[in-house]
Amino acid sequence: MQKPVIIDCDPGHDDALALLLAGADRSLNVLGVTVIAGNQTLDKTTANTLKILEKANLSWPVYAGYAEPLLRKPVTAPEVHGETGLDGPELPEPVRSPEPQHAVEFLIEAVQTSSEPVTLIPTGPLTNVAAALLGAPSICDNIDKIVFMGGAAVGGNWSPAAEFNILVDPDAAHVVMQSSVEKTMIGLDVTEKALIYDSDIETIRELDNPVAITAAELLDFFAQYHRKKGLPGSPLHDPLAVAAVLKPDIVTAKRLPVKIERFGEYCLGRTVVDWYRDQYEDNNTQVALDMDRLQFMDMLLAALRSYG
Ligand code: BDR
Ligand code: CA
Repeated sequence: MQKPVIIDCDPGHDDALALLLAGADRSLNVLGVTVIAGNQTLDKTTANTLKILEKANLSWPVYAGYAEPLLRKPVTAPEVHGETGLDGPELPEPVRSPEPQHAVEFLIEAVQTSSEPVTLIPTGPLTNVAAALLGAPSICDNIDKIVFMGGAAVGGNWSPAAEFNILVDPDAAHVVMQSSVEKTMIGLDVTEKALIYDSDIETIRELDNPVAITAAELLDFFAQYHRKKGLPGSPLHDPLAVAAVLKPDIVTAKRLPVKIERFGEYCLGRTVVDWYRDQYEDNNTQVALDMDRLQFMDMLLAALRSYG
């Protein structure tokens, strides 16, 4: 039986790869894609979602959500993703439009009416998901889990202490982390191990189908930022969240309490992981701490090959 999922994203190069990975797997029933501002403004992330779905011939409905975090000013990441949010390949303007319904209304309705508990896969700031949980707390009962890309047990990438998705909307992250829903945190601890190297990108290009070639061009652009940062490859943050839904044992995780720093001077947006209270406190977050890079690359290659 197919697993009902909703992907909430801000494409973004790695978000785009996450959508392609999900689109290649028949075990998922993607009820819809909700879009959030993050890597770029909402108009751009929405257009990018439609562009990549059209490139891959995926007809999932797309719903635009919040253009700003719950309480703070928006932050974007053009230095990583370019002015369009998806710089690199030539992608035609989308033919489709987003659905008229707001992403948060869709999230609530889709979860309420699903005959099976729904898995949410957020790969951007958590604003839409938090708004849905605040708007209709009872949906928690029909969410199987939230497998989100964000945070880090150790370190950060947008500040020394915080990862981008959480730093952009720490209040939303707080709402999600405080909720009763079961969660898996796919943070920098594992996504920075999910490195894709230039040689992997060449292997993808050699698959020689239009979707794989676009993926390789996206990865070429994404690599420029990470090369400047001195990394040997690019971290495939968001695809790893999808991979962890498709194949949970691709990550090794530990159940640990996670709180969000919302008021810190230096540590705003930090996911504060309590390593010492794992067995004392009631908590519902699995923190991914290790991952299988080779298996992950195999999954990605197989997915991109399937578009041929
Ligand atoms: C996260 O931030 C975004 O730039 C990426 O798309 C990913 O979701 C990594 O910190
Ligand atoms: Ca993202």
